[in-house]
Amino acid sequence: MGGEAWHDVRDEESERALHAALDAGINWLDTAEVYGRGHSERIIGRVLAARRREEVIVATKVVGAHLAADQLPGALDQSLRNLRTDYVDLYQVHWPNAQIPIEETMAALLAAQEAGKIRYIGVSNFNARQIAEALQYGPVVSLQPPYSLFWRYIEKETLPFCREHNIGVIPYSPLAQGLLTGKFSLSNRPPADDNRAHNRIFLDPTYEVALQQVEVVRQVAARYGKTPAQVAIRWVLQQPGITAAIVGARNERQVAENLGADGWTLAPEDMATLTAAGDKVMASLGLEEDTPMWKWD
Ligand SMILES: NC(=O)c1ccc[n+]([C@@H]2O[C@H](COP(=O)([O-])OP(=O)(O)OC[C@H]3O[C@@H](n4cnc5c(N)ncnc54)[C@H](OP(=O)(O)O)[C@@H]3O)[C@@H](O)[C@H]2O)c1
Repeated sequence: MGGEAWHDVRDEESERALHAALDAGINWLDTAEVYGRGHSERIIGRVLAARRREEVIVATKVVGAHLAADQLPGALDQSLRNLRTDYVDLYQVHWPNAQIPIEETMAALLAAQEAGKIRYIGVSNFNARQIAEALQYGPVVSLQPPYSLFWRYIEKETLPFCREHNIGVIPYSPLAQGLLTGKFSLSNRPPADDNRAHNRIFLDPTYEVALQQVEVVRQVAARYGKTPAQVAIRWVLQQPGITAAIVGARNERQVAENLGADGWTLAPEDMATLTAAGDKVMASLGLEEDTPMWKWD
């Protein structure tokens, strides 16, 4: 909803999608100062202004370039202005920054918490070692990692670490940025001005493997009378240690479909079939845990 990075996003459509989600009982919105350089936060600010503030758990993120003690307070104040609120429920460090000691960032976050500007501190794109380091300096309640059937690097160390330390895990890109909806094909790829043109799952040769495995998701979905998107989100939600999923949507229709991931259960044998399909995509990717999902070159 930042108006950049995703092809042809329209603000009015974004706002309608957000209201539709809240009307349907979604109680939590995730954004970041970096999305459209504040644009996404400002869209959410407009939506919040039309509703009761307490209705929504607002989560935003501070960008890696603003993690120093003399940068973070100003970044947070700008986010608060964008969001038209005087507090953020969950303020997350967007990506680790090896140039700034996490002790310094945590001190700035704790001061903001003390001042009542943020309720809880979270991190995103951190591995187990980085979370453990941050925990030395104060409470970190959540991790926002990339996680879907087709991107499962947290399973080895980070997810078990979070389970052990009672840290909420709120994955992003649970639909593999739309690939798991089944709408893409060899002849229908994301446009070049869309961030997905750089997503490693959308790059050859993995893309073809992923498209084949989407067919497995489609077969499982058909048995339940569900769509592939609903099954893909359901698979994420049923993983032990996952608190909730951050599902992107560009319009009301997508919101309505994605809500159909709630209120039912995938049987263990179907979970296993889906996981095996995801294994094939993971084998094709063959990456290290900390490799970003996007390849910019
Ligand atoms: N912390 C981080 O570093 C980080 C990184 C990425 C994302 N995030 C967060 O996570 C959220 C979700 O991740 P994401 O947007 O990357 O991936 P996602 O949730 O896996 O995919 C969302 C995209 O898939 C398409 N889609 C969704 N539902 C659909 C449906 N029912 N039918 C057809 N297409 C559908 C839409 O794009 P189209 O209509 O354009 O196809 C939508 O924008 C983001 O909005 C952001 O808040 C965080």
